[in-house]
Amino acid sequence: NNHEDQTVLEAYGWLTKLYHHLLRRTKDGKEAKEYLYERGFTNDTINEFKIGYSPSVKDFVVQFLEKKGIHKQIMVKAGLLKATESNDYVDRFQGRVIFPISNHLGKTIGFGGRSLTDRQEPKYLNSPESSLFRKSKLLFNFDKARSEIRKKEEVILMEGYADVIIAYQSGLKNTVASLGTSLTESHATLLRRYVDNVIICYDGDEAGINASYKALQLLRKTGCNVKVTVIPDGLDPDQYIREYGKDTFHQLVYQQSMTEMQFIMYYFRKDFRLSQEGERLRYVEKVLEHIAFLETSVERDYYLRELAEEFNLSLDSLKEDLNQRMQKSK
Ligand code: UTP
Ligand code: MN
Ligand code: MN
Ligand code: MN
Ligand code: MN
Repeated sequence: NNHEDQTVLEAYGWLTKLYHHLLRRTKDGKEAKEYLYERGFTNDTINEFKIGYSPSVKDFVVQFLEKKGIHKQIMVKAGLLKATESNDYVDRFQGRVIFPISNHLGKTIGFGGRSLTDRQEPKYLNSPESSLFRKSKLLFNFDKARSEIRKKEEVILMEGYADVIIAYQSGLKNTVASLGTSLTESHATLLRRYVDNVIICYDGDEAGINASYKALQLLRKTGCNVKVTVIPDGLDPDQYIREYGKDTFHQLVYQQSMTEMQFIMYYFRKDFRLSQEGERLRYVEKVLEHIAFLETSVERDYYLRELAEEFNLSLDSLKEDLNQRMQKSK
C-alpha cells in the first residue's frame, strides 16, 4: 500500500546515502573504489551517480535500518534483505558495488549490485520486482538523461549500467539502459513519447548483436527511426571508450552507426553463405521482407538498387517481388 511504499522509498534513500558514504569514506569501501577507478569512473561520476558499496557484513543493513525504525518485514518486501536457510535475514547486496536505480523523479527505487570479481556469480544482482520497481517499464539513467534526450531529439540505448555511466562521463548524456532484461514494448513506447530517433549501442559481442536486432524490430514497430552502432572487436561501450578514447567513440556513434537497412543487411549476411546461389536468394528474400517495411518509396528504391547491384539482379523483378509482398501485407 501507499504508506508502505513511502517507507520503502525512505529506506532506499537512506541506504543510497549510506552505501555511498561507505564507498567514499571508509576502509571497507577501498577495494570497491579502486575497482571503479580501474574501470575509469572518476570521483565526480561516483558522486553524481551515488555509487556505493555494501560491506561484507550480513546484518549491517538490518541494524542500520532498524535504528531508523524500519521493520524487517518491509525490508524483505523491498528486496533489501533475503532470507537464509537458517531463517535469518541478511543484506542481499553484501560485498557488492552498488548502482542506485532511480525513478523518473530521481528517487532510488532499486539497486544493481556488482560483484568485485568476474568469478562471483551472479555478476549483477538487482532488486527484485515490486510495485515500486517494475523493470519492464524502467530505464536506467532516464531521470538524468531526459532533458538531454529532448534537446538532442535522440536517445542512445546501451546494455549495461557501467556502459551508460562511462558514456555519460564521456559527454553522451542522452544514454539509457534497460535493467538486466531485454528491451520491452513498454520501454519502446516510453522512449517513443520523447523521441523519433534511437541509436542502439549494445555490446559488440554476438549476444549484443542479436539483442540489437530484437530491439530494432521492437522500436521500428513504434515508429522510431533507428540506427545501430556495432562496436568493433566484440567490445562493450565502456571498454571501447577506455581503449580508444571518447572522441573516437563519439565518432563511432555519430558517424559510423548503421541505418536500419544497413544493419539488417549486415545481420543477415552473417547467417547466409552468399557464395551459394540458393542461400543468396534466401538472403535477398529476407532483405526484401524488411525493405517492404520502409516508410518512403525513396528509401525502398535506394535499397532495391543496392540489392540489385550487389547481386547482379534485375531491378524490375526485385520491384515486382516487393510490390507483391506489399500487396499481401495490406
Ligand atoms: P553484461 O553481461 O553485458 O554486463 O550484462 P556489463 O554491464 O557489461 O557488466 P560489466 O561491464 O562486466 O560490469 C548487461 C546488463 O545485464 C544485467 C545488468 O543490468 C548488466 O548491466 N545483468 C548482467 C544482470 O542483471 N545480471 C547478471 O548476472 C549479468
Ligand atoms: Mn553483454
Ligand atoms: Mn561490460
Ligand atoms: Mn556488457
Ligand atoms: Mn567528442
